[in-house]
Amino acid sequence: MSALPALTPAADVAAITITPAGPLLGAEIGGVDLRKPLSGDLVAALRAALLKHKVLFFRDQDISYEDHVRFGRYFGELEGHPVTATVPGFPEILHIEGADGTKITAETHPIARPANKWHTDVTFREKPSLAGILRMRKMPPLGGDTLFADTHAIYEDLPPKVKARIAALDAEHDILQSFGYRISDEKRAELARDYPPRTHPVVRTHPETGERHLFVNHVFTTRILGLEPEDSKKLLAYLTDRVKAPEYQVRFRWSPNAIVFWDNRATQHYAILDYWPHDRIVERVTVMGTDVPRR
Ligand code: SIN
Repeated sequence: MSALPALTPAADVAAITITPAGPLLGAEIGGVDLRKPLSGDLVAALRAALLKHKVLFFRDQDISYEDHVRFGRYFGELEGHPVTATVPGFPEILHIEGADGTKITAETHPIARPANKWHTDVTFREKPSLAGILRMRKMPPLGGDTLFADTHAIYEDLPPKVKARIAALDAEHDILQSFGYRISDEKRAELARDYPPRTHPVVRTHPETGERHLFVNHVFTTRILGLEPEDSKKLLAYLTDRVKAPEYQVRFRWSPNAIVFWDNRATQHYAILDYWPHDRIVERVTVMGTDVPRR
């Protein structure tokens, strides 16, 4: 029998380091240069790390816009956003400045800071995005960290009675709850037409890991269906507030040219608005969702 040569992983896979950043979620990835094309083996290793750690942190990646788009495309098709601005010439790269798309000024700061909220991205879509890849473009001298929370751990810790109560419930998610207040009536009508409210299960099963996740958030979830308005409000407030417990979170302190890559099906995030009067600009590539959330 002829001996086939043993398959060895690509050299770039052997070079990576994966260092957990918190007990529940988050890992710092070293030994990768995102300015260069990646081998299929390395992409597979990063995908596996993302599923395991839910959010990956990369440091010192002075990537171009083209590199950012190429990195995102390794993980799926990319999508723009119906409201958020994009980088000129790169419709796949969101330009995120301030909070909720509002530039922070002396006037907007007192309104935006208390209104800042935890969320999973674009749950108003039928297929909410698979992942977000965020690059720090303009960093404040201090602050502007991003928090991530593990929505599987949040689900697991719910009291059994609550788990039983929400097992078969659906909730409505609406883009207008978040973006509706600061756009023209015309744009509002356009969003209402193009992005009707979507119904998703309150508990979602991750399509790749099979883990259960609590899938409601402060920004887009408007109500739980089949309940009286007051009951829906109370239950939704209880569920969406779970994410605020630090036990479920990891905090990322940005550095110049850092990149964060999160599994949007497994996490919520919160960008801390504590840096004004300094600016903070980040750029996001969003990997399109491939599945309609299922129980
Ligand atoms: C986002 O929600 O995609 C932005 C998060 C951040 O600004 O840290």
